[in-house]
Amino acid sequence: MSGTKGARGRRFEGGLAPDAAELNASVGFDWRLLPHDVEGSIAHARMLGRQGIIPTDDVEQIVTGLRAVQGRLERGEVDWDTALEDVHMNVEARLIDDVGDAGRRLHTGRSRNDQVATDLRLYARAAAARLVAAIDRLRAALVGQARRHVDTLMPGYTHLQRAQPVRAAHHFLAYEAMLGRDRGRLVDAARRAGESPLGSGALAATTFPIDREGVAADLGFAGVTHNSLDAVGDRDFAIELVAACALCQVHLSRLGEELVLWLSQEFRFARLPDAYCSGSSLMPQKKNPDLAELVRGKTGRVMGDWVTLMTVVKGLPLAYNKDLQETQEPLYDAVETLEASLGVCAGMVDALELDVARLRVAVGEGHLVATELADYLVARGLPFRDAHDVAGALVRRALDRGVELAGLSLEELREVHPLFDDDVYGWLDPARAVDRRDVVGGPARGRVVAEIARVEADLAATAAASSEARDTQDV
Ligand code: ARG
Repeated sequence: MSGTKGARGRRFEGGLAPDAAELNASVGFDWRLLPHDVEGSIAHARMLGRQGIIPTDDVEQIVTGLRAVQGRLERGEVDWDTALEDVHMNVEARLIDDVGDAGRRLHTGRSRNDQVATDLRLYARAAAARLVAAIDRLRAALVGQARRHVDTLMPGYTHLQRAQPVRAAHHFLAYEAMLGRDRGRLVDAARRAGESPLGSGALAATTFPIDREGVAADLGFAGVTHNSLDAVGDRDFAIELVAACALCQVHLSRLGEELVLWLSQEFRFARLPDAYCSGSSLMPQKKNPDLAELVRGKTGRVMGDWVTLMTVVKGLPLAYNKDLQETQEPLYDAVETLEASLGVCAGMVDALELDVARLRVAVGEGHLVATELADYLVARGLPFRDAHDVAGALVRRALDRGVELAGLSLEELREVHPLFDDDVYGWLDPARAVDRRDVVGGPARGRVVAEIARVEADLAATAAASSEARDTQDV
């Protein structure tokens, strides 16, 4: 224990019971806040100096001292002390050991309650920026595959039944679209976390003539919170960020499931390098898509993190309650799980090799162009419902004969409906079927190529914007 009474002060006799100290301590996980805690303290100390609340000499000692403490903790030269409870007391106690009275002045006009609320918002904003970058890497990988497979046709599915042919590029871009919205949700969450709570004190603000806006600006916040009870008593910014994480992880789970299917012997639509697969300890022939499965499997825990956060907060009276300490681990877990999953997904998507020949065969099987027969008749004036009936009868006939629709002779087609002519066979070409779907959002070649260009331009623009924003701490 360092030469300080910690957070308890002289009101208390002796320390906590050992098991109570263990349960009470958060330093085992809130060490992640270290850079934000130091950043927040430096901004606070500078403001105290500017406002004439503490001597400017002390400010210099505090700033230098805090940076030194941060360095020693980061390099592992000093250990985190559970007896000091949390990251805040660990840092402050080390600072006081080093610089004495100046360090003892740092906590003027501040409480750990507005301190932790600040640290967590800074963490949330930094985490959102990292996640956005990881999402963009995965979006780039998906667009890369889309570029490679503009002209690869594959079966599109509903109910996991082959439905209509699509371009493989269109399939990859569907995931890009989901991730684009996930990105937007993270940016929104970061924006709402962009108010500085410092100055809210323990619950009822402070008597010192502080400059809240100055601190906020130093820390890259857009402004300050407007109610001290709310600022220290809510964690909605964390809940919102984790909700966005959970939904993004759900999208990755669907991608993971899709990869598991594609890599199965039953589909054989793709191959994945050994770097993303593992073997069986028993069956030498196995190559298992463990990483795709784990991305899918980890979705349960990120969803659970969100439920934990909501449950912790739901019954709390204003303002700060120690229960709020329990909002930290789910936040870190969701962020770290999603970040790792996004990275692995980007690697897997980059490395994925589609079996183009196998996909071509799959598109030719299962009467995927049955809708074209109906459209053909509609083009010749038949009402769609009647045309759908005729096409259904022809599928049935093809199934009975064990052939694809293109294997039916013109005579057979005409037996079912006289409007059929020779040109119908052109309509049964899957590439033509895809290109007839020439609307915005459709799989026609021109539309897919335009969509790839749109996404690439968006990625380039956001990459430029985010490198600019990194300097201002914005996402
Ligand atoms: N570790 C605490 C938390 O995460 C810091 C705030 C402690 N405040 C207090 N009044 N005990 O909530």
